[in-house]
Amino acid sequence: MKLKSLVPQSGFLLVLRFLALVLWSFPGARTLDNGLAMTPTMGWLHWERFMCNTDCQGEPDSCISEKLFMQMAELMESDGWKDVGYEYLCIDDCWMAPKRDSKGRLQADPKRFPSGIRGLADYVHSKGLKLGIYADVGNKTCAGFPGSFGHYDIDAKTFADWGVDLLKFDGCYCDSVEHLEKGYKHMSLALNRTGRSIVYSCEWPLYMWPFRKPNYTEIRQYCNHWRNFEDVYDSWQSVKSILAWTSSNQKRIVDVAGPGGWNDPDMLVIGNFGLSWDQQVTQMALWAIMAAPLLMSNDLRHISPQAKALLQNKDVIAINQDPLGKQGYRLRKEDNIEVWERPLSDLAWAVAMVNLQEIGGPRFHTISIASLGQGLACIPDCMITQLLPEKRELGFYQWTSDLKTKINPTGTVLLQLAAT
Ligand code: GLA
Repeated sequence: MKLKSLVPQSGFLLVLRFLALVLWSFPGARTLDNGLAMTPTMGWLHWERFMCNTDCQGEPDSCISEKLFMQMAELMESDGWKDVGYEYLCIDDCWMAPKRDSKGRLQADPKRFPSGIRGLADYVHSKGLKLGIYADVGNKTCAGFPGSFGHYDIDAKTFADWGVDLLKFDGCYCDSVEHLEKGYKHMSLALNRTGRSIVYSCEWPLYMWPFRKPNYTEIRQYCNHWRNFEDVYDSWQSVKSILAWTSSNQKRIVDVAGPGGWNDPDMLVIGNFGLSWDQQVTQMALWAIMAAPLLMSNDLRHISPQAKALLQNKDVIAINQDPLGKQGYRLRKEDNIEVWERPLSDLAWAVAMVNLQEIGGPRFHTISIASLGQGLACIPDCMITQLLPEKRELGFYQWTSDLKTKINPTGTVLLQLAAT
């Protein structure tokens, strides 16, 4: 076979590149107009690791209290997290007192948050970070604390007065789909009316799915990110099920994501107990491909150097935060190996190969470079760098060449292809 005849000629190449530029820069659906989350939100969220532990007497170091958040804020600043982009320190459920105050406002549990949320926000801001909080569109939060139904305006105002920078709005205890939709929209507008910049993190589609298919174009007009699927757990089974859901729904959800509005596959559980090293690599690589918010839920006081390095990997974070803001997708699945790809700015591509076979050792997988990026990823040649599991320059590849990789069971090889 003559190599040359397969490589397109230069005029043709220019046209292809131009077409790619036009295609990738075509604006997505209209977005929530608050100017926030132009790249996926990065930060820390307490839920998966600390859940609803309110027992500060018995477990003072892991209960939901201002002390926990102050310690995390300190570490986010001192241990390099803030420097690589983790900015939002987010409170999840179980921060509230069981009742609203005499003026109908939500209030923090006074024993666990003696400085109040205002005091905590001041502290977090003094570290150069932002504070996230949690509330619920229905009558109660999922853990049974006061819900915002009927109180959207006052709650939005309270959060703004406290200096909150992000709201995670859950969808438990809502009595109808109509209330759910209206509630998510109402809170979005109420937050906007406060005049404070508050990232709006929704779970609207997750709670819609049992009733009818969510209208993602509409959701994007109200939310900065939205959960689609079940809560992440500290297990491979959970991470695997999130990836499976995402790939089987990609036609519906990928194109709607972009600057200002993102699909949220839930927290990163890297640095905890349930994932092997290879599985942690898979979560980090695929959350980058999916343009997912990077909200870690782990204990920054006790985290292995290896997990920390993975979470702070600047090359992988750069893929996640790529300014073009195109979400990646699964290109194919063959013999239990999945190939995912994501277009990046400057005509670069990220490619992830996941080995889903849970028996045996590392497997070799060969991809034809021409099959990547709709044929445009490496034309006429490109520079390929392996970013995970460890960084290695693989060198120049031609459009016509093949690339052979070795992938550990449940692990991922993440590559970056740069135009030359
Ligand atoms: C729901 C959400 C989780 C978490 C809990 C808190 O399950 O999906 O992310 O916020 O509620 O109760």
